[in-house]
Amino acid sequence: MVSLPRTYKQLMVRKLTTNFREAVYIENVKMGVPAKDEVCVINRFVGVNASDVNMSKGRYFVSAKIPFGTGIEGVGEVVQVGENVTNLKVGANVAYMDTRCSAYAEYVYLPAADVFPISEALPEYVVLLVSGLTAAIALEKCARITAGDTVLITAAAGGTGHVAVQWAKSTGCHVIGTCSSDEKKKILKDLRCDRIINLKKEDLGEVLAKEYPNGVNVIWETIGGKIFEICMKNLAIKGRLLVVGGISGYKKECKEGFTKIDVSNLPEELLLKSNTVQGFSLLHYWKCAAYYFRYLSQRLETEKLKVEYDNGEKTIGTEFFGVEGIIKGVEHLHSGKNIGKVIVRMS
Ligand SMILES: NC(=O)c1ccc[n+]([C@@H]2O[C@H](COP(=O)([O-])OP(=O)(O)OC[C@H]3O[C@@H](n4cnc5c(N)ncnc54)[C@H](OP(=O)(O)O)[C@@H]3O)[C@@H](O)[C@H]2O)c1
Repeated sequence: MVSLPRTYKQLMVRKLTTNFREAVYIENVKMGVPAKDEVCVINRFVGVNASDVNMSKGRYFVSAKIPFGTGIEGVGEVVQVGENVTNLKVGANVAYMDTRCSAYAEYVYLPAADVFPISEALPEYVVLLVSGLTAAIALEKCARITAGDTVLITAAAGGTGHVAVQWAKSTGCHVIGTCSSDEKKKILKDLRCDRIINLKKEDLGEVLAKEYPNGVNVIWETIGGKIFEICMKNLAIKGRLLVVGGISGYKKECKEGFTKIDVSNLPEELLLKSNTVQGFSLLHYWKCAAYYFRYLSQRLETEKLKVEYDNGEKTIGTEFFGVEGIIKGVEHLHSGKNIGKVIVRMS
């Protein structure tokens, strides 16, 4: 049983900037009591996301007043339960996504209905939350991939990308993955990615034009800018481009987080090839999250899904730990050097 402290540490945003270190400060918060339908969870591991810098810039919740909390996912142990909570007991291990964005803390209060019971609070389960759910739901429900499709996954060795690669492979697709180092290339080879493009060594447009002259059926686009333009040009007839992110613009200090692109000819381009461009935000697919989380957990537990996570040990030599570790984790992700999902140990 965890004995509760009088206060706990939480990262709060006090300055709206994409420089995460400058944006946040550590607040000592008084330990509270959960509301009737809530549980309080001691975080064991939290997940770092590319969009954390969009949050700290105030791009997503424009009405939020500083200071506000940040962090959207983690795994841990229930330490307090509200009086109406019957399905969870103190000591239960859970995974969760926090729509109130207060996960970057030692403890977090959550609606009991929003947490997923798990057997052990392991970092592997963090990978299945924002990253795993985005990969599974977007490829299945939006891109509607089927066996035989050629699917291009950008940032394929990242937290979300490496699950997307495996989802597409297990559907029977031919998978092309982009990355930016030979170390990442090796990981993608282990995941049976069919064509791996190290963008530091090969030109994406040239490879696609030469090796995929009929185009690509489905493109998982997370970079934006020039990469988006190259992807659009290389869609097959009836091809679908899924806008999942636009990381190349996130660190800019302008109001918008996406790099500007030239889409002046988009209607004609879409019509001539019967193409589709579709956006995806996990927030809009909340209702099926529990179903897909269970499915992904089963695949993990039966070793059909391999999860890669980066806790700093192999890539920078020290483990990301505690609220200070979160800041280092966010910086690591945006250095582009992370391999798999960036994870921080909290206790
Ligand atoms: N729509 C949604 O609901 C949703 C949910 C989750 C994630 N996402 C999006 O999915 C993408 C991946 O997110 P993640 O959290 O899983 O991060 P991640 O893939 O673990 O890490 C980001 C990766 O992007 C590449 N990268 C970093 N900075 C870049 C830059 N300035 N320009 C180009 N590439 C850069 C790097 O890989 P390489 O250099 O090796 O390519 C880096 O490893 C992001 O665009 C994110 O916003 C969207």
